[in-house]
Amino acid sequence: MAQVPNPGAILFPDDPEAMIFERQMLREQQAPEICEIEKLMKQFDAHEDQEGEFLRQYQEIKEKSKNPLIKFLLQLIITDEEKHRATMHAIAATLDGDLTWTRPKDAFRGFGELHKDKENEELLELTVAFIQHEKEGIKDYKRLIKSSKNYYRGLFAMLLQTIIRDSEKHVEILEFLRQKLKQA
Ligand SMILES: [Fe+2]
Ligand SMILES: [Fe+2]
Repeated sequence: MAQVPNPGAILFPDDPEAMIFERQMLREQQAPEICEIEKLMKQFDAHEDQEGEFLRQYQEIKEKSKNPLIKFLLQLIITDEEKHRATMHAIAATLDGDLTWTRPKDAFRGFGELHKDKENEELLELTVAFIQHEKEGIKDYKRLIKSSKNYYRGLFAMLLQTIIRDSEKHVEILEFLRQKLKQA
């Protein structure tokens, strides 16, 4: 954030209240930023709670159900919900650390280590290969959907569709990593 150097002194060089004015201005400049982070953190916090609540409900119905297919399908969702909650938690913890000048143990760390060293160079090469694998996988699964769409009332096709979305997500994560490693 660009800050005006000593704005009170510039505007009112001989005014004894200049310093108070300056402090007020700085406070006003900084306040929205802190509010912004705090607001965002609260939103992520709320989403973490929400994901936790969904997770609890899914687990409850899964345990009640006697049908193995229902159990299997609900477990797929539960695994995702656990990831959602963990992600919301890590984001909220990171923002909380920014606000309190602390480093909560669940906050993201390691961003500064995405620099160019031997290990990261190798990882960069690997991400390129993995992205390729994921994309080929997507093509294969699309072909499989076509040939299995009449099986088990569309169950296989639906499951394959979810795997394709997961693979697309993996591409997105890998692309992000590749970008950051390249920029380092
Ligand atoms: Fe979710
Ligand atoms: Fe994958």
